[in-house]
Amino acid sequence: MAAGLRFDGRVVLVTGAGGGLGRAYALAFAERGASVVVNDLGGDFKGYGKSSSAADKVVNEIRAKGGKAVPNYDSVEDGEKLVKSALEAFGRIDIVINNAGILRDRSFVRISDEDWDIIHRIHLRGSFLVTRAAWNHMKNQKFGRIIMTSSAAGIYGNFGQANYSAAKLGLLGLSNTIAIEGRKYNIHCNTIAPTAGSRLTQTVMPQDLIDAFKPEYVAPLVLWLCHESCMENGSLFEVGAGWIGKLRWERSLGAIVRGKDEPMTPEAVRDKWEKVCDFDNASKPRSIQESISVLNDALSQIESQGSISMNSTSSGSVVSSSLDTTNIVGRELTTKVYTYTHLEPILYALGVGMSTKDPDHLKFLFEGSEEFCCLPSFGVIPAQTSMFDGIPSLPGLNIDLAKMLHGEQYLELYKPLPTSGQLTSVSTIADILDKGSGAVLLIDVNTYCGKDLVCYNQFSLFFVGAGGFGGKRTSEKAKVTVNPPKRLPDAVLSDVTTTDQAALYRLSGDWNPLHVDPSFAALGGFQKPILHGLCTFGFAARNVLKQFANNDVTRFKAIKVRFAKPVIPGQTLQTEMWKEGDRIHFQTKVKETGDIAIAGGYVDITSAIDKPFAREPLKTAGLQSDLVFEEIGRRVKEIGNELVKKVNAIFQWDITKDGKTAMQWTIDLKNGSGAVYQGPARSSADTTFTLSDQDFMDVVQQKTNPQKVKPLCHGCTHLLGKLLFTLVQFWIMTVCIPKH
Ligand code: NAI
Repeated sequence: MAAGLRFDGRVVLVTGAGGGLGRAYALAFAERGASVVVNDLGGDFKGYGKSSSAADKVVNEIRAKGGKAVPNYDSVEDGEKLVKSALEAFGRIDIVINNAGILRDRSFVRISDEDWDIIHRIHLRGSFLVTRAAWNHMKNQKFGRIIMTSSAAGIYGNFGQANYSAAKLGLLGLSNTIAIEGRKYNIHCNTIAPTAGSRLTQTVMPQDLIDAFKPEYVAPLVLWLCHESCMENGSLFEVGAGWIGKLRWERSLGAIVRGKDEPMTPEAVRDKWEKVCDFDNASKPRSIQESISVLNDALSQIESQGSISMNSTSSGSVVSSSLDTTNIVGRELTTKVYTYTHLEPILYALGVGMSTKDPDHLKFLFEGSEEFCCLPSFGVIPAQTSMFDGIPSLPGLNIDLAKMLHGEQYLELYKPLPTSGQLTSVSTIADILDKGSGAVLLIDVNTYCGKDLVCYNQFSLFFVGAGGFGGKRTSEKAKVTVNPPKRLPDAVLSDVTTTDQAALYRLSGDWNPLHVDPSFAALGGFQKPILHGLCTFGFAARNVLKQFANNDVTRFKAIKVRFAKPVIPGQTLQTEMWKEGDRIHFQTKVKETGDIAIAGGYVDITSAIDKPFAREPLKTAGLQSDLVFEEIGRRVKEIGNELVKKVNAIFQWDITKDGKTAMQWTIDLKNGSGAVYQGPARSSADTTFTLSDQDFMDVVQQKTNPQKVKPLCHGCTHLLGKLLFTLVQFWIMTVCIPKH
């Protein structure tokens, strides 16, 4: 083994090492040269009885393999005796693994005083007593490694384990403080929440899991955390089955709920509740100082502003020095010229999943199409080439491009993008923010065609490890994301990305190997290369364009997104959309995992009414409702099966103009997978609505309550309700309806 982690000369005390996890730790330490004190009281799993055989057995195993070990049969409640064993046998104590444990599971009210006390005495007090006995020895030798054993039951709660959960989370608190007090003596303390098959879990785990979750899959983490070369301190890990994850606290930005010289009321708390509980842009405080500094900030904001409208607060990173950012903000980074032919917009359209399978897509894929045009989101492509130059040389900032995460993106278009030509992009640092664990650079890029400004991008880039320079946390220059409405989406479109989606998208100019090279992706902690955030962004942008702007690029004004989670090529993207006036809110979910990959997104569109020139002329004799029925026809083709199951009815519509029936339409949601056609119902209609073209449009555009429409229906009021239901079913309000 190359540069193996060795423990020669180290003395390790493992409590409860007669079986289960403790035994695995003892064997593993001994195998790597440590001298081990194998402690075990040898009772049953509820803490009754005692025996020397458990510890003896493990000591014999170690010695049989040529290792060094001594037994100790005391309870961890006699902490001093355990440490004395180590000192007597080996002359020192370097590492303490607090592992011994028992269970007394009972539902909460049935927990007796004894059940409560013994669990606390063995787990929490026992760990305290053993660790305290070792502390001064570690302090004097300026070396010590301590492990506390917590549990998922403590972190998350678990039915029937109130006593155990309380003690186990108590161990985390103990560890957190020991880690702080021990740091200057090179004494590190970390906590693990393991999962392993053992006698403690055999009553709750099936045998195949007991066999699969081997204690040997936990031990290597314990060894690493206890090695002299490991600097981890004060952390919490979940571990099992060969997987390890680190946990940390997350805190919402919160809200100020009182004004200056005003009383604080429960009503104000209620009114700000959503904000209090909103984890968007949440902070991750790492110390009590970081935690408390937000209160100081809040206090000074209340005193200075007197208002209760604070949306975000500093989470107060502890800052040792303050960097003057005035010479960075406003700095022009670079000017780049992007020259392209029709190839680039087509390649880009393919990269964001467009296909000739969809006839609507042809105008983005075929340069010979009369309507050939660029997708609006292509506007990020010329801009991205210009922004990286100059970033690494920012004075005073610990910027590492390898540690950059693309956090957010805003794009605004002033003109449709040319399908070929030369675009010049000028990038500037709009602002720099200090998020504690990293710095955020807001980079504005203006892109010109000749002298005309065609689009503006704002890239929000997060540089891990570059924070803590004493800067502000928020900026009025930042374009912010907006949460979607709290109702079901008005439309959802799904796209299955291909395995080669990222390989295709990168040809548009984002060459980061993270998106194609498995070994590079592994370095970044990803199991596989991930899709470009801007590729997912392109999928979402084109879906909104199709759904709400009839693929009319002249109506696309702006888009904002936050990249929340990575997507793996091959996964299915679900763009969920909500229409609120001319703003389309959206988020993109990964169907397979339910993760939100793009959060807080929106697209601003120009309404069709403002741009009548952008629409096709009406095809029929001036009936506005025809367009709506055509759109309904398209939707029925997509989701007819589902609607037939739900609605199971045939609706006939007699549309009148100037008092006469001008057109008949039938929506058949009873037969086959549904159909929409001109003319009367081919089999008898369950409901026939007769109303004027104008009334129909008024209902569709929600200008009129259907109950108030002139009584032209053959039917009763509940049918009018059905009418509305049908309209809503088809998301008709999302269809662009031009005015005459
Ligand atoms: P285990 O029952 O196999 O091992 C615990 C050992 O502690 C036993 O050998 C027992 O004799 C010994 N012990 C009990 N009371 C003692 C005392 N007063 N003094 C000295 N030794 C004593 O159980 P397992 O699963 O190996 O548990 C080890 C630790 O991991 C425990 O603290 C447990 O709470 C924790 N844990 C285990 C999980 C799992 O999935 N196995 C899950 C979460 C936490």
